Amino acid sequence: MSRKHISELLKSIRPLKNIQVKGWVRTCRASKEVTFIEINDGSSLKNIQAVTDNTLKNYKDVEKLTTGSSVAITGDLNESPGKGQKWEIQITDLEIIGLAPESYPLQKKRHTDEYLRTIAHLRPRTNKYGAIFRIRSELSYAIHTFFRNKGFKYIHTPIITASDCEGAGELFRVTTLDPEHFQKKDYKRDLYSFDFFGKQANLTVSGQLEAEMFALALGNVYTFGPTFRAENSNTRRHAAEFWMLEPEMSFCDLKGNMDLAEETIKFLITFIIDQCPEDLDLFSKFVDKNLMKTLESILSPAFMRLPYKEAIDILSASGEKFEFPIKPECDFQTEHERYLTEKHFKQPVIVYDFPKSIKPFYMRVNDGNTSVAAMDVLVPNIGEIIGGSQREERIDVLEKRMDEQNLPKEDYWWYIDSRRFGTVPHSGFGLGFERLLMLITGSSNIRDVIPFPRTPKSIDF
Ligand code: 4AD
Ligand code: MG
Repeated sequence: MSRKHISELLKSIRPLKNIQVKGWVRTCRASKEVTFIEINDGSSLKNIQAVTDNTLKNYKDVEKLTTGSSVAITGDLNESPGKGQKWEIQITDLEIIGLAPESYPLQKKRHTDEYLRTIAHLRPRTNKYGAIFRIRSELSYAIHTFFRNKGFKYIHTPIITASDCEGAGELFRVTTLDPEHFQKKDYKRDLYSFDFFGKQANLTVSGQLEAEMFALALGNVYTFGPTFRAENSNTRRHAAEFWMLEPEMSFCDLKGNMDLAEETIKFLITFIIDQCPEDLDLFSKFVDKNLMKTLESILSPAFMRLPYKEAIDILSASGEKFEFPIKPECDFQTEHERYLTEKHFKQPVIVYDFPKSIKPFYMRVNDGNTSVAAMDVLVPNIGEIIGGSQREERIDVLEKRMDEQNLPKEDYWWYIDSRRFGTVPHSGFGLGFERLLMLITGSSNIRDVIPFPRTPKSIDF
């Protein structure tokens, strides 16, 4: 007898003798003649139906079965005479592994996303969340497939750092100092010298600076991992812990960067459409009826490329009543981004050449000294999904920018060094992994595409 995954059995081309499945009971319907048990093991959206009757030797166990219980079922895979499924298992043996009491919260009815967030430890056992997290898994694999095929090297950039890449000060501190201890003692100066690293440390907001060092050695690289931001904004597209994909390319300018960003998004969406049709179907049926249309609108046209100045003109002339009015050199809010991509262009838009004043120190200063070679990719339902730039490779310009932004140059000595020794033009971007998942599944809240979301005032599980 061999254990099979339900996804395999459902694809079987012939009946099979003496197989076993292990999983969780979704429903159990008993009648006088037969009992139907629907089992799911997480390998696919679909359950398999198992049938038995009271001639089974431990039929009393079948009578005890409840939704949520875990079971091992042995039997033969036969063609199902019933409607709705091709295969079913004729049970020869059933073992209860763990019984779930009636208080199991996922009884057969529809639950709201808000409620399911309060039971994030159980929600992957629902159809929708099982599908999201299977897609999330495939999407990670797709990223590695794409970049490996293009010859990019995968770099593990550090989680604990001493720098603030984005300069926004949204840092989670990493310390072993006990606040009570150091309050009692009178550490007047240089408190951090007593700390674990001997200086201030934090969780990374981006692996970019370190990825750049590797691009300047290995050519084309990417990092893909968790990043952390202590942004105190409770929105549906911000999390305190999220995953970011960050490719970095040597000998590449902003145009090459935009080309890669567009190609990446198109590849990843196509990959999921091809690999996860059944799971994706759930979202286009029950979550967002326009989902496939939206995805099509991203795959078919070339992304619109638009200088920041023109984007501002379009927004100013739009006649829209924005909550945040358009001002010169303003940063975009979600409402502006969504207007451009959803209403005005009705397709993805890459805005580039942002004002120098609103962007971090590492972006390359354009001729004229007022803008930088930055780009944001905007997509429907989300707004900004990618932020990137060509990097400042000229050491004198870089140092001047750091001075302007009051960055402690001594702490970034290694970063500046890379411009001292064989500097080259290079570019890269960061793609928010959860935002891409939201786009692909039509989910409207980032909390619903991360296994255990971390947001302000919320860190259960
Ligand atoms: O635009 P951001 O801040 O860019 C950077 O961090 C660069 N260092 C990336 C690079 O050039 N290598 O962030 C990049 C993307 C955003 O476009 C967004 O999709 C996502 O990361 N992102 C978030 N996703 C979820 N929650 C948050 N709080 C996010 N902040 C940024
Ligand atoms: Mg950004």
